[in-house]
Amino acid sequence: MVLIRNSIYLDALSKFGVGGAHPGGISLTKKIFKTEEINETSYILDVGCGTGQTAAYLASRYGAKVTAMDINPIMIEKAKNRMTKYQLPVEIIQGSIENFPLADGRFNFIISESVLSFVNKPRALKEIFRLLKNGGRFIANELTMNKQLETTNEEEIKQFYGLDSVLMEKDWVNLFEHTGFKHIKTRVQEHSNFQNNPIPEFTYSAHIDPQLYGIITQHFHLMIKYQGVLDYRVFSCTK
Ligand SMILES: C[S@@+](CC[C@H](N)C(=O)[O-])C[C@H]1O[C@@H](n2cnc3c(N)ncnc32)[C@H](O)[C@@H]1O
Repeated sequence: MVLIRNSIYLDALSKFGVGGAHPGGISLTKKIFKTEEINETSYILDVGCGTGQTAAYLASRYGAKVTAMDINPIMIEKAKNRMTKYQLPVEIIQGSIENFPLADGRFNFIISESVLSFVNKPRALKEIFRLLKNGGRFIANELTMNKQLETTNEEEIKQFYGLDSVLMEKDWVNLFEHTGFKHIKTRVQEHSNFQNNPIPEFTYSAHIDPQLYGIITQHFHLMIKYQGVLDYRVFSCTK
């Protein structure tokens, strides 16, 4: 059975069908992949794919063999609709990256965009490592604190987003190293705060609880409140 953690923020993202729900949006995704060697023989896994915007891009731009997975059934349905609409042969699977029963060493690339923060990080990273081929690349665009916050502030963030921890850059790097990854590189973006995000795409569900509109507003308030502290990094590493 797949256990979905309690995150009203993720509920809101799925009901609003936010595509590119990560810092920098799809334009940063495109920029990141420009420097990777991807072609039609590449097997790629998009972890926590959401509505499938990145997976669709990788399949259409590079002709890569893309698998997209997510725990949330609403996200999965929206991702499937996208692939049907654009006739893209992307494999879409509902499951948790904490325990994702595909064969070892299946992928050349695995990407997670604003996903690891929401899961049990060591467990998810162990699975990602197992699923990668030797020499395969893992790329993660993840929430990162620029400095340690007061406990009450950190709690506010953890509670709202449904996180068990908020990491600093060095903590992420330690985790990657501990999992066994090598050649760990960190990229800090020029416009490193969330305020410069491009406008995302929306695919609304038919019924949206009015309470969820307030959640999106609260998210923006938190982004402003913690501007300069709550940030993100793009990590890349090799198995
Ligand atoms: C902030 S959204 C990002 C979605 C997508 N990567 C994007 O950039 O648009 C986080 C996603 O992680 C998914 N997620 C949360 N826990 C997960 C888990 N254990 N396994 C797989 N996906 C998970 C959520 O359902 C959600 O779609």
